[in-house]
This record gives sequence, C-alpha cells and structure tokens, in this order.
Amino acid sequence: MNDTVSQQIVYLNGSYLPMSESQISTQDRGFLFGDGVYEVIPVYQRKLFRFDAHLERLKNSLKATSISNPLTDSEWQKMLETLIEKHNWQDQFVYLQVTRGVQMTRDHMPAECLTPTIYAYTNPLKPVSDTIIENGIKVITLDDIRWLRCDIKAITLLPNVMMKLAAKSQDADDAILITREGTISEGTASNTFMVKDGNLITPPNSHEILPGITRMVLESIANEHNIPMIEKDITLDDLNSADEIWLSSSTKEALPITKLNGQTVGNGKPGELWLQMREYYQQHKQKFIESH
Ligand SMILES: Cc1ncc(COP(=O)(O)O)c(C=O)c1O
Repeated sequence: MNDTVSQQIVYLNGSYLPMSESQISTQDRGFLFGDGVYEVIPVYQRKLFRFDAHLERLKNSLKATSISNPLTDSEWQKMLETLIEKHNWQDQFVYLQVTRGVQMTRDHMPAECLTPTIYAYTNPLKPVSDTIIENGIKVITLDDIRWLRCDIKAITLLPNVMMKLAAKSQDADDAILITREGTISEGTASNTFMVKDGNLITPPNSHEILPGITRMVLESIANEHNIPMIEKDITLDDLNSADEIWLSSSTKEALPITKLNGQTVGNGKPGELWLQMREYYQQHKQKFIESH
C-alpha cells in the first residue's frame, strides 16, 4: 500500500512498478506526436465511478484515432482496480493513457502493427476547497483555438494549456471558450452550464466539445429531480445575462462561477440551483457507494 504520491505505483505495459522506475521510449508516438488518448476516472471509497461510461468514451476515442484497443473491458477494469488497491486513498482519480506506440523512424504516417503503450496512475482526489464553495471561481472568455474534434479525449492538450495560461495572466481561474461560430463550447478542462429562470442550459454534444461524464451525471440528476435541462447553443450575451454559470468535470464535479470577464454573475455568490445540485450530487455519490 502506498499513500504518498512520491511512492506511488503506476501501471505501464502490463507491469506495476514505482513511478520513479517507470520509463518509456523517446520514440513513443505519444511523446513525439501527441499521438494518443486518455481518460480520467474518479474513484469514490475505492470504487470506480461511472466506469462503463468512461470505458465507452475511451473506446470511442481509440476508434476515432484508429489506435487499437489493447485490453478487453474486463482487463481494463481489473488493471484499474488493482492500481486502486495498491494505494490507501479512499477517494482517488485514475489517469489512463494509450498511445499508438513506439516507432523508431520518424513518420507522421503510423507504421502498421504498432503495439500501443498503456500507462495508468492514480492520485488522491481532494474535495473542492471551502473557499471555492463559499466564493466560486473567476473565469474569462477566450477564443476556442482548438481543433474540430474536441469530442476525442486526445492527449494533445497544448491549446488547453495555452488558454489556461492566458486565463492566469488575466487573474482568472479558468476560461470559457467561444467557437468560431460565436457560441460557447466548454471550459479548458470542463463542460459549461448556465442557469436562467430556473432552467439548466448546456451546449449540445458535438465535435466541438468533449461529451463529459459529469455533464451526463448532472443531466440525469436534473431529470430525477425535475429540474428542466435544455441542450442548446449559448452565446456570450446569454452568458452575460445568466443567473448562474457552472463548470463540470470528474475531479471537480460542478463548480460555481461568480465572476465572468470581471463582471459579477448573479449576486456574486454560488447560486441557489448550484447549492441544491451540490447536495443532490453528494446524495448520488453516496447511493453509488452503497450500491457497489
Ligand atoms: C475539454 C474537457 N471538456 C470536458 C471535460 C469534462 O469531462 P468529464 O466530466 O468526463 O471529466 C474535460 C475533463 O477533463 C475536459 O478536459
């Protein structure tokens, strides 16, 4: 059992070994081309949350990029559960990555029959800070400079990193991205929601956003509690008149935004629907823990 990050055990191509001893080839296409896909799965009380949905999305990413799926569904599950077991943390988030593999000669065209590189590790999943729950976060809007296949969870995250840095340079915690068509896509590592007159509104799934699993969970909770949820395009004007704005992701659940481009959102505090949803989300997790 390992409970400090420095002693953690990782999985690499069939072996479990200390992170400090894990090595990959410099000719790995993931390293040279960003040629790979990944997933991040939350673990509550040592149980993989929404594993089937994450696995489905992984398979979609692999299929879309023509990277062969190196493991069966049950092998994926067993590998991740073994990794979780090797660490003491009750709540964790596992990161897994599949690259197309090692190719000795540089060529954009992948060689045939490459063996994918599989890497996974886990970290403690920390609850969102009290300060954020109390005050929310500040975001700015930025042009979405990414490609047109954001539905693939690709490891190629340079635009996301650049936009995160741009947000930081403007004293913001994150950014909401605006597509070339002038509608909101998502956050740099999250989906976007707004609340208007009691309706929960989020952009529809498309090639311009990642089909977030947390987004899906929020939708199912909204349905269960008769909160009207609408999928439609959102413009910056819509956002400017929103009662509440949220970001959602597996490691942060739903986060309230209280400042948008320096302007106060709602009354400047996390909104009522967010507070309600937060409670429902915790109940949903508790039910999941008890039933698994
Ligand atoms: C670009 C992007 N959109 C949305 C999400 C939210 O996805 P999920 O809820 O599955 O974590 C993420 C998560 O990392 C992301 O990177």
